[in-house]
Amino acid sequence: MKRVFSGVQPTGNIHLGNYLGALKQFVDLQNDYESLFCIVDLHAITVPQDPKKLKENILDVAALYLAVGVDPKKSIVFVQSDVSAHSELGWILTCSSHMGELSRMTQFKAKTANTSNKDSIGTGLFSYPLLMAADILLYDTDVVPVGVDQKQHIELTRDLAIRVNNTVKKTFVVPEGRYIKEGARVMGLDDPTKKMSKSAENQHSRISLLDDDNKIKKSIMKATTDSEGIIRFDIEEKPGISNLLNIYSALTGEPVEDIVKSYDGKGYGDFKKDLVEVTQNSLKPIKERFNEIRHSQELIDILKDGAERADAIARKTMKRVKENFGLGL
Ligand code: TYM
Repeated sequence: MKRVFSGVQPTGNIHLGNYLGALKQFVDLQNDYESLFCIVDLHAITVPQDPKKLKENILDVAALYLAVGVDPKKSIVFVQSDVSAHSELGWILTCSSHMGELSRMTQFKAKTANTSNKDSIGTGLFSYPLLMAADILLYDTDVVPVGVDQKQHIELTRDLAIRVNNTVKKTFVVPEGRYIKEGARVMGLDDPTKKMSKSAENQHSRISLLDDDNKIKKSIMKATTDSEGIIRFDIEEKPGISNLLNIYSALTGEPVEDIVKSYDGKGYGDFKKDLVEVTQNSLKPIKERFNEIRHSQELIDILKDGAERADAIARKTMKRVKENFGLGL
């Protein structure tokens, strides 16, 4: 059976972009692949974290995985730092990487663009994609479901796997990214030229999966559109309404063209009102399940069991990696 791996950072405010770009894919893929879904806490500490808050955020993401429909009977759900091989392989890949390829990562450039003192930029932020590559390669992953913002990191992972296979010994499976058309890049509701993000200051730029109905309504009704007043899909000229159409389509499964047709002659207000309802109805069962499981022993047991199962696979890979690199006894 082919293998799927993906991860989400426990940094709070898990939003519709995370859901439509990644989490929703997890649920579909777990039926056809051996699946591992990870809460990547080691990635979260590339920027300062409050330890208490981090622990809470880890459990939030774990509970959200289950709440959206990840089934622990089908998938391995675990916390990254519970399997020490991630850090170990991360180092080995660091030694197989080049400064130049890491310097070209657009996410690193974006995250550090506003730092005035370049000397203070965290080294972890720079080497972040190597830990991500380790996550993926550790499990001989075939498919990585993510949003398109991760595409460059996936390409780097492939390059590293191919480099090691060619220069050391055939060691790694070369993975492929998987992106869903409508959900791959959900944009900010306030500024549809920027991706929806967990860290944006304006809370109305995103819809978090745990937002209440009022907040959902406010954020959507406030969403930036344009002055033309005609509902049609045009990312370049009409990024706001196109983003909302993508969200509607990704949530309902209805093709964008059909949605556009059904709103012929209607205004943005009508469409937004319906999108509010669609979003509220989509998130309701997720919130209910989240509340049931978030503080349960069941959640802890699932993560412990997941870590054990992931560790067993990771150990096997590390044995092969160390042997091929000539490491250890
Ligand atoms: P993170 O935590 O930023 O985001 C989790 C997932 O959500 C996707 N995503 C989006 N998709 C569509 N529209 C958006 N606006 C949007 N924002 C985020 C991301 O693409 C991601 O799939 N580096 C990763 C975490 C990671 C990982 C891995 C992923 C670490 N190791 C190994 C896959 C495999 C990250 O920061 O995701």
